Amino acid sequence: MLQNKTLFERFKENVPSLTGKTFMITGANSGLGFESAKVFAQKGATVYLHGRSLDKLQSAIDEIQKLAPNAKLIPVTSDLGDLSSVKEMVSNLDITHLDVLMLNAGIGLVEYKLTKQGIESQFQVNHLSHFYLVQQLWDLIVKSKTRVVSVSAKPAMGWASLKFDLDAINKKATYVPQNAYGDSKLANVHFTLGLAKRGIHACVIDPGPVKTGIENKANGSGFFPFLARNVSFLIAVKVEVGVLTQIFASVSDKAVAGTSWTNTDQFWDLSKIPNFKEQDTDALWQFSEELLRSKGF
Ligand SMILES: NC(=O)c1ccc[n+]([C@@H]2O[C@H](COP(=O)([O-])OP(=O)(O)OC[C@H]3O[C@@H](n4cnc5c(N)ncnc54)[C@H](OP(=O)(O)O)[C@@H]3O)[C@@H](O)[C@H]2O)c1
Repeated sequence: MLQNKTLFERFKENVPSLTGKTFMITGANSGLGFESAKVFAQKGATVYLHGRSLDKLQSAIDEIQKLAPNAKLIPVTSDLGDLSSVKEMVSNLDITHLDVLMLNAGIGLVEYKLTKQGIESQFQVNHLSHFYLVQQLWDLIVKSKTRVVSVSAKPAMGWASLKFDLDAINKKATYVPQNAYGDSKLANVHFTLGLAKRGIHACVIDPGPVKTGIENKANGSGFFPFLARNVSFLIAVKVEVGVLTQIFASVSDKAVAGTSWTNTDQFWDLSKIPNFKEQDTDALWQFSEELLRSKGF
């Protein structure tokens, strides 16, 4: 435990000053997103904290301000389970420069549910709404040379096999919580590669198992959600430690476009992902665009 704390403190000391930089983090009211916001704020950054509840965001901001009283922290709200909410959030944003966009919000191993747009919830919350958010912020991202950091999950890759067919994604009879989670997290990987192909400074990370509370929200049925709820705490690390990889990917010069990271600063070899197919990068992009269009976005 002492070693972990030392690692975190040592790492934090080495994060350069972020004064004058602007960050936006989705899912910043708790867990890894909150911890990231805390570190960036303490280093002097302006941080846009995204969440779906203004009350939760305000509590998070109050907490961070105890550590960084002068930090500029701005709450922005949208429900990633509703594309119109994402659209409205972006239309209300008054932001001229963005250094880092961290696509961190997520749900995992949850029961079958369709979003407002009638899309399986893990696919929409974890992937499609982030894809849409980036589309909506495209000009700002290009102009600002924004670094886009996606938070994926390496262990979930064993469950993943992307399907570019909404009926298959939504099919209740064959829904398996961990498979849907795996698919959405593999989508994070391919989305990152798709962004990098289009000249965006995009990176993807795996935080490893981290005690954030996400495990308690794994309300899906079956063995793996059960393990997440009841056993994962045995191997999960503290959030202060689990957050290091996404901080590294956000600020390190080593994290160039198209790179993937795990275990703080270790290269994550995507070619080892069991169902990794290079052509899925373009297929996912096209499918996501078509799906958005078909839903009127
Ligand atoms: N913890 C781990 O072991 C682990 C491992 C691998 C990958 N990850 C990934 O790490 C990321 C962060 O998760 P975490 O562990 O920090 O969990 P967390 O504490 O539950 O944080 C998830 C965040 O996403 C937000 N969110 C969920 N659904 C949303 C929606 N519909 N609209 C807007 N915001 C929504 C949550 O807001 P609410 O509070 O309102 O729900 C929360 O702020 C996720 O992408 C997850 O897949 C985590």
